[in-house]
Amino acid sequence: MKHLCIYFCVKCLACHAGLLYFHFLQYTPDHVIGPGTDIDPPEITFPGCTCLKVPCLPGTCSCLRHEENYNDDSCLREIGSAGKYAQPVFECNALCPCSDHCKNRVVQRGLQFHLQVFKTDKKGWGLRTKEFIPKGRFVCEYAGEVLGFPEVQRGIQLQTVYDSNYIIAIREHVCNGQVMETFIDPTQVGNIGRYLNHSCEPNLFMIPVRINSMVPKLALFAAKDIFPEEELSYDYSGRFLNLMDSEDGERLDKGK
Ligand SMILES: C[S@@+](CC[C@H](N)C(=O)[O-])C[C@H]1O[C@@H](n2cnc3c(N)ncnc32)[C@H](O)[C@@H]1O
Ligand SMILES: [Zn+2]
Ligand SMILES: [Zn+2]
Ligand SMILES: [Zn+2]
Repeated sequence: MKHLCIYFCVKCLACHAGLLYFHFLQYTPDHVIGPGTDIDPPEITFPGCTCLKVPCLPGTCSCLRHEENYNDDSCLREIGSAGKYAQPVFECNALCPCSDHCKNRVVQRGLQFHLQVFKTDKKGWGLRTKEFIPKGRFVCEYAGEVLGFPEVQRGIQLQTVYDSNYIIAIREHVCNGQVMETFIDPTQVGNIGRYLNHSCEPNLFMIPVRINSMVPKLALFAAKDIFPEEELSYDYSGRFLNLMDSEDGERLDKGK
């Protein structure tokens, strides 16, 4: 089933009076087009590679522009070491002639681990794993409505201090100083990624991964080995990979 409607009956955190209200969520495993944008996330905009009889490898496969994205165990290669910006990740897509077993198809295979939404003590709902997840493996996406910037501003203005914020802004620095921005909002329509809480010592990190479309999948990978029952979290500031060394700290201080 692709779209599932779920509702929760939760205690009102705003007034602490024990009032109950219903929260409706339309479940989607993939981004969907939202208000204020004409970008259609499922549209195929990338050409495929031509690796019909040979495996997809850097040098010959047009989907692998820099180096391999994943190793033989489907773990993300070491990227974004201190001070370096992460290279973009392009997976093989619907137009590529390679098989479903191509090593460059990982995020598109979807969830591989048993995850569970649970009620935390102080952070509302959270997400945890029921099984061991090795470092580097893909865990889940952060999927929701793709918004235009005016809609983001409107949504944020409507929020009160008691509301959870689900809107995420991804800024990617492309060549010659250009910046690409993507806004994803799983408040009303989203996947389990919306239950991930923030941590300054997270066990996940987020990487934009492109498959068929220019709209990136916001893919969360294991930053370390994760054991059953551990809560899953990432750093909402995106600091994990991009801002680690002192030089980057200075850049942050100067507001860049
Ligand atoms: C993307 S949602 C995460 C899921 C949320 N806990 C829920 O119940 O739906 C983000 C919101 O969760 C809460 N949150 C996330 N990380 C937190 C943390 N480390 N401490 C307290 N609250 C947190 C905040 O209300 C935040 O606006
Ligand atoms: Zn290829
Ligand atoms: Zn390909
Ligand atoms: Zn391939």
